[in-house]
Amino acid sequence: MSPTARRRPVGVVTRGTTNPNRLRRVDNWIVATCADRLLAADDPLVVDLGYGATPVTAVELRARLAAGVRPDVRLVGLEIDAARVAAAAPAADPPGLTFARGGFELAGLRPVLVRAFNVLRQYDESEVAEAWRTMTAALAPGGVLVEGTCDELGRLASWLLIDADGPRSLTLAAKLTTLGSPAELAERLPKALIHRNVPGEPVHALIRALDDAWQAAAPYATFGPRQRWLRAVTRLRETGWPVLDNSTRWRQGELTLPWPLP
Ligand SMILES: C[S@@+](CC[C@H](N)C(=O)[O-])C[C@H]1O[C@@H](n2cnc3c(N)ncnc32)[C@H](O)[C@@H]1O
Repeated sequence: MSPTARRRPVGVVTRGTTNPNRLRRVDNWIVATCADRLLAADDPLVVDLGYGATPVTAVELRARLAAGVRPDVRLVGLEIDAARVAAAAPAADPPGLTFARGGFELAGLRPVLVRAFNVLRQYDESEVAEAWRTMTAALAPGGVLVEGTCDELGRLASWLLIDADGPRSLTLAAKLTTLGSPAELAERLPKALIHRNVPGEPVHALIRALDDAWQAAAPYATFGPRQRWLRAVTRLRETGWPVLDNSTRWRQGELTLPWPLP
């Protein structure tokens, strides 16, 4: 056993709530926007940190990456709760999918990509920066962390793309057929931002501007929520927000902006 592997996993056991298909929005975004990093890697190692009471979302991420990026992707599900590691064992499919005990230190692994979803939400906001630093310090050179939050069914989600220099982008994503208004996304911001949805903070200004654009796009609702969202995102960009990507991603109900926000 290496000295790193003997270290106590960094973090604490939290609630293990998860659901099949809950993380489809972030997974699809990872496949679409992080494929180059994985394709360029000698070892296409991905960590799903904190997969929860069942490993279903880790199984799904591996399947999506294998089908959409490269079949030899290697996904390791890490959990800080030893009982959840044992419970996941029957779902392993080595070498492409394995499970192990680990925390923010990533158990001595050097992945190209880490997905940590609904993990930091249960920590105190003051612990977030250190957790990011610990995870990004363990990445392979050029690696990234995708850290975010979603609701129980994955209809509302948001995540940050983080590298060794800190957050690079913020993505908001919603199931458009059930979205009442973009303001609902405020409840599902990443832990680092959830308490920042107050006047004077850029994320508050963003959500207000998106909500205003959504209201202004109300006439497009006749053509369905997707057309309304596309119009709202276009308007947001017209009003000066540096919205990234194009309608291919927007039509999924996504919106990505560089971080820090202006
Ligand atoms: C709410 S579940 C999230 C499950 C899954 N990622 C999802 O989004 O559906 C959070 C899990 O993260 C685990 N966890 C919390 N802190 C961790 C850490 N530092 N390292 C690894 N796992 C951690 C908890 O034990 C728990 O099982």
